[in-house]
Amino acid sequence: MVARSLLRSNGSTGQLLLEVFKGKGIGSYVCDSKGNKYLDALAGLWCTALGGSEPRLVKAATDQLNKLPFYHSFWNSTAKPPLDLAEELISMFTAKEMGKTALTTGASIFLVAAFIAEPVIGAGGIIPPPKTYFEKVHAVLKKYDILFIADEVSTGFGRLVTMFGSDMYNIKPDLVSLAKALSSAYVPIGATLVSPEISDVIHSQSNKIGLFAHGFTYSGHPVSCAVALEALKIYRERNIPDHVKQISPRFQEGIKAFAGSPIIGETRGVGLLLATEFANNKSPNDPFLPEWGVGGIFGAECKKRGMLVKVVGDEIAMSPPLIMTHREVDGLVSIYGEALKATEERVAELICKKTRGWKMIARGLLRSNASSSSSQAINLLKYVTTSGSLQGHAQNLWDAPTRHFSSVPSPQSNSTDENGFKGHGMLAPFTAGWQSTDVHPLGCYVYDMDGKKYLDSLAGLWCTALGGSEPRLVKAATEQLHKLPFYHSFWNRTTKPSLDLAKEMLSMFTAREMGKVFFTNSGSEANDSQVKLVWYYNNALGRPDKKKFIARSKSYHGSTLISASLSGLPALHQKFDLPAPFVLHTDCPHYWRFHLPGETEEEFATRLAKNLEDLILKEGPETIAAFIAEPVMGAGGVIPPPKTYFEKVQAIVKKYDILFIADEVITAFGRLGTMFGCDMYNIKPDLVSVAKALSSAYVPIGATLVSPEISEVIHSQSNKLGSFAHGFTYSGHPVACAVAIEALKIYQERNIPDHVKKVSPRFQEGVKAFAGSPIVGEIRGVGMILGTEFADNKSSNEPFPAEWGVGAIFGAECQKRGMLVRVAGDNIMMSPPLIMTPDEVEELVSIYGDALKATEERVAELKSKNNN
Ligand SMILES: Cc1ncc(COP(=O)(O)O)c(C=O)c1O
Repeated sequence: MVARSLLRSNGSTGQLLLEVFKGKGIGSYVCDSKGNKYLDALAGLWCTALGGSEPRLVKAATDQLNKLPFYHSFWNSTAKPPLDLAEELISMFTAKEMGKTALTTGASIFLVAAFIAEPVIGAGGIIPPPKTYFEKVHAVLKKYDILFIADEVSTGFGRLVTMFGSDMYNIKPDLVSLAKALSSAYVPIGATLVSPEISDVIHSQSNKIGLFAHGFTYSGHPVSCAVALEALKIYRERNIPDHVKQISPRFQEGIKAFAGSPIIGETRGVGLLLATEFANNKSPNDPFLPEWGVGGIFGAECKKRGMLVKVVGDEIAMSPPLIMTHREVDGLVSIYGEALKATEERVAELICKKTRGWKMIARGLLRSNASSSSSQAINLLKYVTTSGSLQGHAQNLWDAPTRHFSSVPSPQSNSTDENGFKGHGMLAPFTAGWQSTDVHPLGCYVYDMDGKKYLDSLAGLWCTALGGSEPRLVKAATEQLHKLPFYHSFWNRTTKPSLDLAKEMLSMFTAREMGKVFFTNSGSEANDSQVKLVWYYNNALGRPDKKKFIARSKSYHGSTLISASLSGLPALHQKFDLPAPFVLHTDCPHYWRFHLPGETEEEFATRLAKNLEDLILKEGPETIAAFIAEPVMGAGGVIPPPKTYFEKVQAIVKKYDILFIADEVITAFGRLGTMFGCDMYNIKPDLVSVAKALSSAYVPIGATLVSPEISEVIHSQSNKLGSFAHGFTYSGHPVACAVAIEALKIYQERNIPDHVKKVSPRFQEGVKAFAGSPIVGEIRGVGMILGTEFADNKSSNEPFPAEWGVGAIFGAECQKRGMLVRVAGDNIMMSPPLIMTPDEVEELVSIYGDALKATEERVAELKSKNNN
């Protein structure tokens, strides 16, 4: 029953063969729920480079969790670990000089006109490049001024015997993607290294625009960065590439010694990466019958003998922890050999069964000499293989036409504008110029690098709902790190925390019944996944044209290509070649700014619903897949819906069979005074995105809730195709899930929505009491979220001159008085920790009032200067 709640990554959702990995990950071994111990020949998912019980990584995480579990890296702020990590990565990567590091939660690339390649193709079947390949590719790219992105997610940090795959093949990339071994998977993190030339262009372009509008809440997460820093230290101190150099010949040669087996087409690999492809007659064009599941047989035989390998079709892959000992390598080779022998015999039997006419001959062969007979029996197979190959079918899936987005190259500029940009290694999200702030938290407060204390009215980035020093969350993380820092959730495997969390989330979300949870690392990935799930769903239903998404102006849904496309903020699109063509934007439901003279809130809502319907009709309802909305718009300026809005909008989307996606990344878990925003506005969504407060930001995690109807369709479609080919290495990360489980427990035990209901009236009324200020256009909000928009003459059409920076003045005045607020132009946003006490609310209101008064005075001065 528990297992039913998880939408597993990249695995068949059909034949449920769930294994719950728990218990201590011991070096290169993992244990399943029954206590069976396995040599983990895939290192989790090519990622636990340092094995599952490295105490230094656990300590690094715990120390950082106790010091500063989260602070964001947006808008000129950051913590020390991301800055240190950015520097360290740049110094470690020597194949080509790198200028900046953009930190993410998984593999991530920028939108550039480029060629992307893994030094050794990994998940596609471990394919090392042929001799001279990269040299020749480089020459072609250089000739046509095309950038080279090295995807080193699987090859980084020693797997190929060099620190990076680029060193191995003399690749001089312009951008590099990293993840997996970067933290040895103990905490989710990824990074993009950017060459100095590209980062300089990004820098000057961002300064021109005023913002580098790209970034994830968890970009540069301090705990992830602290763990990664320690991992890098270990790689260097223990000279892991050298260790790989010593053990890998035995690994490669030991396994390749079996390459003569009649059921093996090819065994290929380099360093500690290796794949075996089973094939009949040693031919790439002669696969075994898919229903025989030769790869699956081999995987099961390995497992029987205590070893886990990756199986996809008839291809098996190994990518063991880099810390493997010689003895463990010998053990691995020996299990491989035994499993192979057993598989050969099984294949021979299958051939005998299949080829009735040949049965006697094959039997005879089998009896006289098991291994040579199987080889002869196998050779007979080519005469009897009649059915189509699933592999061939899969090939067609991979080769399906891809979408292309055009990219206009950024103008080159030789900007010498330092602005602090050259002084550190991080490409900071949502930041143009640069200065760094190192902060340490206590409850609703944070401290900067000079020890100054601030009331954090934005809860990090709308996310540290339980404040910055919740010991139960630190304990949950630490315990899980000690127990099992990582195991993946692909291919019918998972860990207990992910199952428990999925179950808990489904029981907590009651606005309507939900069927499954899919885990991500961020809100952006959750929304990205929504689009893919909806497309997959409509394809399964035979509605190939129903693919467009309607989002709203001023919405914020994230920073990946798709989630930024959904977002309705021009900065996220400008110079990024977004939005993607399948995204349409409808009206922003901001009554104060957009209502017509004399129009009531209800009439405004009716007009917006009508506009939405007109848009649907204009585009054709058969082309519109889904509508996505935040219950209360957050980053767009804190905009609660006008009265009756969601009622009317839901009626329209229902009428045209359009799915409703609720983006609850900010509003979930009590922020509005109800557990979810959907409860507040009576929204019955088909899909829901959550992140942020899900873990109170202590460890990166996000999720997508999927209705039973949609998950059923996904399930049967995946069974038809053979797999549900979507998932992130860190989907359902056990440490992140353990923290989230504890956070949800706290929300329920302490009845956080009720606490919000109690403290928020004073928060709302206290701040709204200043709405009469001559420089305030509107103050709006609900629960523990509040926005202030400055405007002249209280008019939505009379903004202050941008160069006055009224919002920034107010932000600085708050900061002077010990409070951090979010400033976006002349919009101020507050979304404090949900644990705020009444005293802290008083302090917030009082600082707000004083800062407002100071800002009024400054605006009066600016006005009089302007008039003179
Ligand atoms: C409503 C909403 N959706 C999605 C996101 C993106 O989440 P993340 O930054 O974790 O990718 C955010 C982040 O602020 C958000 O506010």
